[in-house]
Parts: sequence; structure tokens; C-alpha cells
Amino acid sequence: MARTTTCRLPRLDETRKVLVSLPVLSIIIASTRPGRAGFAIATWFNELAQAHRSFEVQVVDLAELDLPLFNEPHQPVTRHYEFEHTKHWSAIVERSDAFVFVMPEYNHSYNAALKNALDYLYHEWRDKPVGLVSYGGGALGARAIEAIKPVLTALQLVYAGELSISLARSPVRDDVFSNDAQLDDRAARLLKELDFATAVWRRARLERTARTH
Ligand SMILES: Cc1cc2nc3c(=O)[nH]c(=O)nc-3n(C[C@H](O)[C@H](O)[C@H](O)COP(=O)(O)O)c2cc1C
Repeated sequence: MARTTTCRLPRLDETRKVLVSLPVLSIIIASTRPGRAGFAIATWFNELAQAHRSFEVQVVDLAELDLPLFNEPHQPVTRHYEFEHTKHWSAIVERSDAFVFVMPEYNHSYNAALKNALDYLYHEWRDKPVGLVSYGGGALGARAIEAIKPVLTALQLVYAGELSISLARSPVRDDVFSNDAQLDDRAARLLKELDFATAVWRRARLERTARTH
């Protein structure tokens, strides 16, 4: 006798609710330094992301979030959180469908505040696309991008593209980023990639939920 297998599909109303609402894109400002360039670069990218109209965009500032150095007694993989700061951060990441990390290059890597924020959580990052907007001096933030890639893999974040910026060519002055047409164009391409990847992975996460329940 032929064996049939059944797989519970997500209920139609659940699926519709998830897929009709705009996906949430969280732009994370990684630098926490007073006078940081990151704020102006994130402001520029946020304007382009809002104009793209494919996302509900929110800016998340790690300086405002003010997470202490990782201090949860349990491993994030258990999702057992003691502290309100972790529960708050978890809720922000959980409701996000995609991310853009606006991150500086510090000593040939990305900055510690971003690593700390990533380490706090585990499941909340999984199967969600991320675009990397990195900036720095001579190496244009490229080493920060290479350094973060293994961490994205560990957390099962989905790399969706990158944009590296030379602060020598495009400086931040008086909190304003001196973007140009070429950078705007590269940012638009990154947003397009994120748009596509977010649609694909949103469906994939629903499918995973259906198969595991
Ligand atoms: C601790 C520290 C380390 C840095 N290391 C590098 C580096 O390795 N490569 C580089 O291109 N720029 C480096 N820079 C320059 C930064 O990329 C530049 O200052 C940038 O404005 C930092 O981002 P922020 O202003 O948003 O914090 C470093 C800056 C700091 C503060």
C-alpha cells in the first residue's frame, strides 16, 4: 500500500497576515561612540530604504539600546532570558524580517558593540537576510565585512549583499554624510537584493514553522 505523508501547511489566514504586511527591516547602528560617523550613514541609508517602499523600516541604535557586556547566565540557544534588556532586544530582533548592519571597521574587524549584540540572541536571527554597510579608511570597511561573515554563518543569518564606504572619499561632516550618485546606486541595488531575499526567506520561515509543528 502506498504510504502517504501529510505536512501541516500554515493556516491560510496566518500565511496571508504574514505575507501581506510589509516586512520589517531593522537598520542597526553599530557604533556607540559620541561623534560617530555611523549615525549619519544610517540616516542616509534609512532615507533610501523608506523611499524604496518595500519595507517597514526601523532604525535601531545600539548606543540607545545600551546592552551591558553579555551577562545572561544561560546560553542564548536556550532562549531562557533573565534580564529585561535581553527580552527587549529579543523582541526587536524577533519582529524583524531583515537587517542592515551599519558598521565601522575597528582594528581590521567590526566593532565590539555589534558582536556583543549579536551574541545575546540566537534563534531570533535565524533565516533572516542581512545587508552589510561598512565604512572606514583605506580598506573601506572591507575587513569588517570579512570578519563578520563567519558570525553570520554561526547564527544562520543570510548574507544578502554589502556596501563598503571610504570615509576619505565620502566623509561625514557636521553629522551629514557626503553621499554621491554612485553610492546611492549601490545602496539601491543592496535594497533590491534585500527585498528579494526577504520575500524568499519569509516564506521559507513559514514553511519551517509548518514542518516543525
Ligand atoms: C578603535 C578604532 C579602530 C579603528 N580601526 C580602523 C581600521 O582598522 N581600519 C580603518 O579603515 N579605520 C579604522 N578606524 C577608523 C574608523 O573607521 C573611523 O574612525 C570611523 O569613523 C569609525 O566609525 P564611527 O565614527 O561610526 O565610530 C578605527 C577607529 C577606531 C575608533
